[in-house]
Amino acid sequence: MDFKLTEEHIMIRDAARDFAKNELLPGVIERDEKQEFPKEQIKKMGELGFLGMMVSPEYGGGGMDTVSYVLAMEEISKIDASASVVMSVNNSLVCWGIEKFGNEEQKQKYLPKLATGESIGAFCLSEPEAGSDATSQRTTAIEKDDHYLLNGTKNWITNGSTADYYIVIAQTHPEKKHKGINAFIIEKGWKGFEIGPKEQKLGIRGSDTHSLNFNDVKVPKENRIGEDGFGFKFAMKTLSGGRIGIAAQALGIAAGAYELAKEYSKVRKAFGTEIMNHQAIAFKLADMHTSIEASRHLVMKAACDKDNGENYDLSGAMAKLFASKTAMDVTVEAVQVHGGNGYVKEYHVERLMRDAKITQIYEGTSEIQKIVISRSILRD
Ligand code: CAA
Repeated sequence: MDFKLTEEHIMIRDAARDFAKNELLPGVIERDEKQEFPKEQIKKMGELGFLGMMVSPEYGGGGMDTVSYVLAMEEISKIDASASVVMSVNNSLVCWGIEKFGNEEQKQKYLPKLATGESIGAFCLSEPEAGSDATSQRTTAIEKDDHYLLNGTKNWITNGSTADYYIVIAQTHPEKKHKGINAFIIEKGWKGFEIGPKEQKLGIRGSDTHSLNFNDVKVPKENRIGEDGFGFKFAMKTLSGGRIGIAAQALGIAAGAYELAKEYSKVRKAFGTEIMNHQAIAFKLADMHTSIEASRHLVMKAACDKDNGENYDLSGAMAKLFASKTAMDVTVEAVQVHGGNGYVKEYHVERLMRDAKITQIYEGTSEIQKIVISRSILRD
């Protein structure tokens, strides 16, 4: 497999790298500590085109490929995974879902704002009793005259209070089980739509995670995405692409921690020499580098599959499974390489270690990826 990057890819990667270093790094520790959303930084990311990278130019996006997107995701995630999760949800779950499955009116109404970051999107599937078991939706959207009445609760919603538009998955025909589920675009401020308190999280603390309550929210029929009953397939297809973005986020977290550990090992001395000269440290760095390279190959393979019109359910799930484990393993080792300094905030690696954990949980836990992978390989 040849993953040769074009000049444009390199330009995009370098632009994301510069942005992360110049705009996201200052204040990243404080935002983590205070659970503060990177509002100004996200606004700039929108202006630079990072929030609608794959959206067609006719709807205000960058018209870029998935490879460009994962390159940018990796660079942003090396520095600030709280900013990159906003980028990931907006690009892969919200913009992609609307552009791929929405009708022309929905695309024209919502995409130009979402693609430029003027508005932010959220994707609302998880519920108190439907996390991994996504078919068991309790939120209902019952048809009534010219609208649906939406009732229920969604949990752990990224961009929960900062979003303007929410894609909400709900059950319309319970007797049809997953074939009765629909996806809707809901706007902030609609009567009966309430945003719950902010979650106090272990990692990605700068991102904004809430539960949402819907009490008789009137949703116009034209805000349903796709045919009646398409909602579960919509969610699964959209999440398949989303997993490539989260795999790239995990890769970035791992690569960021590895780079810090490598640099530290060149300056920190113990037993009369820089610690990189001790095999105990050099072997750790060798393992970290190898698993990061393997993750990068899986992420690129999944991105290329998507760009080439191939099925990417399997490659995306494998990329997410492996890269998220790598993120966890590498960040733990990066803390170890730093010793006592690794345990304090100013060296960044403890934050990256906390951020890494979520990549094994959201957009499908590692166990869910194994379900997707095993079903796919056993079907062949
Ligand atoms: N593309 C298209 N259709 C798909 C699909 C895909 N990738 N995956 C499943 N489907 C279809 C199946 O073909 C089936 O359709 P038919 O009945 O017509 O044959 C239907 O969906 C049901 O599929 P399954 O029988 O496989 O359903 P299941 O319940 O056994 O398993 C699952 C599905 C893979 C476990 C799924 O429930 C799943 O992915 N769960 C995890 C949910 C998840 O990722 N949540 C993340 C929340 S969003 C988030 O985290 C965002 C954020 O804030 C960062």
